[in-house]
Amino acid sequence: MKNLLSAGLKKLRPVSPAEPNAAPGRSRAQVIAVAAQKGGVGKTTTTVNLACALAQTQGQRVLIIDIDPQGHVASSLRESVRIAGTSLSDILLAHTPRDLMEAVRDSEIEGLSLTPPDKALNETDTRLSTRVGREYILQGALKTARTRFDTIIIDCPPNLGNLTLNALVAADQVLVPCDMSILAFEGVADLLGTVSVVNDRLRHPLAVLGILRTRVDGRTQQINEAIGGALDENYRHLILDTAIPVNSALAQAQAAGRSIFQYAPTSRGAQAYKALAGEVVSRLQAAPSAASGAR
Ligand SMILES: Nc1ncnc2c1ncn2[C@@H]1O[C@H](COP(=O)(O)OP(=O)(O)OP(=O)(O)O)[C@@H](O)[C@H]1O
Ligand SMILES: [Mg+2]
Repeated sequence: MKNLLSAGLKKLRPVSPAEPNAAPGRSRAQVIAVAAQKGGVGKTTTTVNLACALAQTQGQRVLIIDIDPQGHVASSLRESVRIAGTSLSDILLAHTPRDLMEAVRDSEIEGLSLTPPDKALNETDTRLSTRVGREYILQGALKTARTRFDTIIIDCPPNLGNLTLNALVAADQVLVPCDMSILAFEGVADLLGTVSVVNDRLRHPLAVLGILRTRVDGRTQQINEAIGGALDENYRHLILDTAIPVNSALAQAQAAGRSIFQYAPTSRGAQAYKALAGEVVSRLQAAPSAASGAR
């Protein structure tokens, strides 16, 4: 396992503003929150492998923000090293605005940067409850990052608390993974209700990039038809063409601390996430520019 760990990411290091590839103003990132109220539906698997697909097959500069206290992005990519320095909690709880770039680290995977795991986010979620304007803190901290990356993907915790709200208000689009279970299906309605709150009450033009069917098991035809049918009936225009099959290589890759493209590049899981990256890029190109919702 040690070898696998070291074969994953190098120690993350802060991106210095002086780095040549970090010139400001070259692009305006599209920010995608990966959110679902139900746990275990594939949010982190999707965040990590979509980010790697965009970086490796689409040549993009991609930033993953792990706003889930569980810190599963880093463990999925085996960033197991404790790194002193700025955490997401430091940014979110600061009394004067701070720049998220202080917490951003490069990874060994070309084009991919990420924020470090932050267990303190659990407490941060509670502490944010007393802050005025708490929902807008991440949005404000993202201004520089938006100029340095093509896509920013935020991995959300499995609830609709202050951290998820910060992610949704910072994002242009939300991607909603839904596995083939009734609980996940019910969670989609809750999440879409929260999107309406973000649009109407928080006055933020968050769009739904799509509902992603995950962990689709060809052996459970009946349940697939029931949940797939219900999704189709209620949210047809939102369902992505790409569906992610159950693929043990995806779970094995996560356990080995590697992306599916490093672990099993020809697996069905890798093919599905590559297809998802292509579909996401086309959807984003067809969507109104993030700049038009510039904040
Ligand atoms: N398509 C898939 N095929 C097989 N296993 C999968 C698939 N997608 C995810 N898994 C496995 O299911 C488990 C949960 O996935 P993941 O961590 O991505 O879910 P999550 O929604 O991020 O969970 P949480 O809500 O706890 O953050 C992991 O062990 C992961 O490896
Ligand atoms: Mg997760």
